[in-house]
Amino acid sequence: MTDKTNRKVLVTAALPYSNGRPHVGHLAGCYLPADTYVRYLRLKEIPVRFICGSDDHGVAIKMTAEKEGKTPAEVANFYKQKQFEDFSACGISFDVYSATSDSPYHIEESQKFFLSLYDKGYFEKQVSKQYYDATRAMFLPDRYVRGTCAYCNTPDQNGDQCENCGKILDAEHLLDAVSTLSDSPAEIRETVHWFIDLSKFETVVTDWLESATIRDATKNYVRGLLSTGLVKRSMTRDIDWGIPLPLDDPDAQHKVLYVWFDAPIGYISFTRELCKQLDGNPDTYADWWKSDDCEVVHFIGEDNTIFHCVIWIAMLHAEGTISLPHSVVVNQFLNIQFPGKDEEKISKSRGNAIWLNEYIAEGGNADSLRYYLTAIAPEKARTTYNPEDLRQRHNSDLGNTLGNFVNRIISFTLKYCGPAVPEIDAGYSTEVDRLFQEATRRVVSDVDSLLENYSFKAGLDRIMEFARECNRYVDTKEPWQTRKTDMETTRVTLRIALDAIYTLGILLSPYLPETSQKIQAAFGQNHLLWKDALTPLTAGTSITKPDILFQRIEAATDD
Ligand code: 2FM
Ligand code: ZN
Repeated sequence: MTDKTNRKVLVTAALPYSNGRPHVGHLAGCYLPADTYVRYLRLKEIPVRFICGSDDHGVAIKMTAEKEGKTPAEVANFYKQKQFEDFSACGISFDVYSATSDSPYHIEESQKFFLSLYDKGYFEKQVSKQYYDATRAMFLPDRYVRGTCAYCNTPDQNGDQCENCGKILDAEHLLDAVSTLSDSPAEIRETVHWFIDLSKFETVVTDWLESATIRDATKNYVRGLLSTGLVKRSMTRDIDWGIPLPLDDPDAQHKVLYVWFDAPIGYISFTRELCKQLDGNPDTYADWWKSDDCEVVHFIGEDNTIFHCVIWIAMLHAEGTISLPHSVVVNQFLNIQFPGKDEEKISKSRGNAIWLNEYIAEGGNADSLRYYLTAIAPEKARTTYNPEDLRQRHNSDLGNTLGNFVNRIISFTLKYCGPAVPEIDAGYSTEVDRLFQEATRRVVSDVDSLLENYSFKAGLDRIMEFARECNRYVDTKEPWQTRKTDMETTRVTLRIALDAIYTLGILLSPYLPETSQKIQAAFGQNHLLWKDALTPLTAGTSITKPDILFQRIEAATDD
C-alpha cells in the first residue's frame, strides 16, 4: 500500500515503434492522457517521472529498413528524433525520450531480466513450428507473414496479433500464411525457442487485475483472456536485429529476445538513464521501480493490453524485485471521419491519418488539438475524430465560452478600473457572488478527484461546465450596466470574475499548457501550482491583456 505522504509516481507511455511518425490516433491513445496526468502531478508537487522512447527492435523496423534501403539503426534513429519533435510540438513533456536500440542501459537491463527468469527456471527450451520462407532461406517471425486469423476468420492479419480480435497468433493460428517478403506461401519448419508458460501465472494476473486501478473495459477484456486460459509463449526470435540471447548454448546463436520481451523493460532502462542524468547515479531507478511509495502507471492503447496486463505482469512477478504496476490506463482506438465520408480506422496505408507534424505545420493550434482529443477521448469506447467537429468545438467551446470570458473580463477591468486587480468593499457582495465563489471552490475539488482517477475527459467537461457558469455569472451581474451607476458592485463582480480566471488558468494547465501560460501571464505569473487555485488575488496585482486566446477558425472553402 502506498504511503500517501511520500507518494511518487512513475508514468510511462507506450514506446512507439520507430518506423513511423505519430498521428492524432497515437496522441489520443496514450501520450496526451499520460502528459495530462503528469502535468497534473507536477502542479500538485507530487514527485513524478515521465518515461518514454522508441521501441526499435522487432520486425516492423527491419521491414521499413529494407524498404527504405537503410539499416534498422538508421531508421530507428531517424524516427525516434521525429517522434520526439512531433510529440514536443503538441506539448508532450517527457522527462526522457530514449530508444531501445540506443539506451546505454537497455541491453544490460534486458539480458539481466531474461537471466533472472532463466535462473529461476521459468523458461522452457522447446522445438517449435515456425513459418519459413524457402525462397529467402529465413524464418518469418511475426509480421513477415500474413494470413487469416484462425480465431475470428479476419483475413490479412500479421503473424503477431489479430487486429480484429486482439488474439496473439502463432503458426497454428494463422491460416493460408504467405511470406510478405516474397509473396510465396510460407512453409512451416522447426526451430528452437525459449518459452514462458503463462498458464503458471493465471492466479498472479487475476489477483493483480482485481487489485490494480484498471478501467472496466480493460478488466473485462483481460478477464476474457484469462477465462480461455493462458498458454506458452516464445520469448525469443530468429532475427538479426534485437537484444542477443545471453545464453552460452549453441542453440542460442543468432537468436534475439522477442521485441515484446525487451520493449517494456525499456521503461526501466530509460528510467536508469534519466536517473543518471538527474542524480548522477543510474541506480536511483530503484527508488521508482522497487519502492512501496511509488505508483507505476502505464498509459497504453487498447492493442497493447495483453502485453501490459498479462505478459508483463507475469514477467515482473517472475523477476520478483520490481513492483507490479499500480495502474494500466488503456484508451480504445480513435477512428476518423472526413466530411461526407464513412467513419474508418486510422491507417497509414489508407492515407487517412492526420499526422501531428502536418497538423502543426499547417498552423494547427496544439492546445485546440489537445482540447478536442480529450473532449472525445476514447476512454470507454472507440470514438471518432472529425476535423469539422474540431473546428466547431474550437470556435464554440474554446473561442466563445472560454476565450471570450477571459478576454472580455480582463479588457473591461483594464478599461474601467485600470491595470490592476481592483480593491473592493465586501459589503457590496451578494448571494449571487457567494454562490458563484462556492462553485469556484467546487470545481477545483471535482477536477482534482477526476484527474486523480484518470478521468481526463470528465475533468475537462467539468472545467468547461464551470466556464459556462462564469459566463452566466457575469451575464447575471451585468457589469457593463452597473458600471454606469454603481462602481462598487462592478468592482466586486470583476474581482470575483478575475479570481475565476486565475483558477481556470491553473485548472487548464494539465490540459492546455500554452493557454494556461497566457492566462497566468495576464497576472504576471508563470509557475502557479494547484494549491494556488483558490488563493484570492491581491488587490493591486498588475494585470495585462492577454492576446486573443483562440483565433476563430473559418470553414475551409472549396475554391
Ligand atoms: O504498439 C506499439 O507501438 C509498441 N511498440 C508498444 C510498446 S509498449 C512497451 F512495452 F514498450
Ligand atoms: Zn482474430
